Amino acid sequence: MFNLMQVASTVVRAFYFFLPAYIANTLPGIFGGGTPLDFGKTLKDGRRLLGDGVTIRGFIVGVAGGTAAGAMMGRVLEGFLLSFGALLGDAVGSFIKRRLGIERGAPAPLLDQLNFVIGGLALVSLVGQIPLSYILVLLLITPFGHLSVNIIGYKLKLKKVPW
Ligand code: CTP
Ligand code: MG
Repeated sequence: MFNLMQVASTVVRAFYFFLPAYIANTLPGIFGGGTPLDFGKTLKDGRRLLGDGVTIRGFIVGVAGGTAAGAMMGRVLEGFLLSFGALLGDAVGSFIKRRLGIERGAPAPLLDQLNFVIGGLALVSLVGQIPLSYILVLLLITPFGHLSVNIIGYKLKLKKVPW
């Protein structure tokens, strides 16, 4: 039988575990911009390698901020892997979108919300086993949290689109 307190506790633990990645994924939207990580490179399909939404500054700010948050939690290596993985996952997501012909900023449901979750989990799993319950919680809850944060960003005029 599922115990409600047990479920709530797992949700809080999973969220705390993944917090560096959430921070890493949020900061570029506020402090990112400037030179794109692909330096403007276009592939043979006529589309950008990653696009203007993936920038060097955003990448560095995200990894640095998420790692700093991890350090404050006494989890510096985990914090770094979660942050670096999150930003890497985000870049891979943009790469996939461009190959599918989806323009920068156009929505790709689930891919947009889960790219950084998959990236963060993949890299942090290199240094320890992640409970399956955390993985399920993060995959299920993140799309809702992500959408809520983006709607706030849109209302604050930090983002051009509410997704
Ligand atoms: N951002 C950045 N550098 C990164 C990641 C994000 O500067 N490495 C900033 C960009 O200003 C970007 C914003 O954060 O526009 C939101 O990120 P995201 O939604 O992932 O990018 P999109 O603009 O939607 O582009 P894409 O279609 O490639 O996802
Ligand atoms: Mg996007």
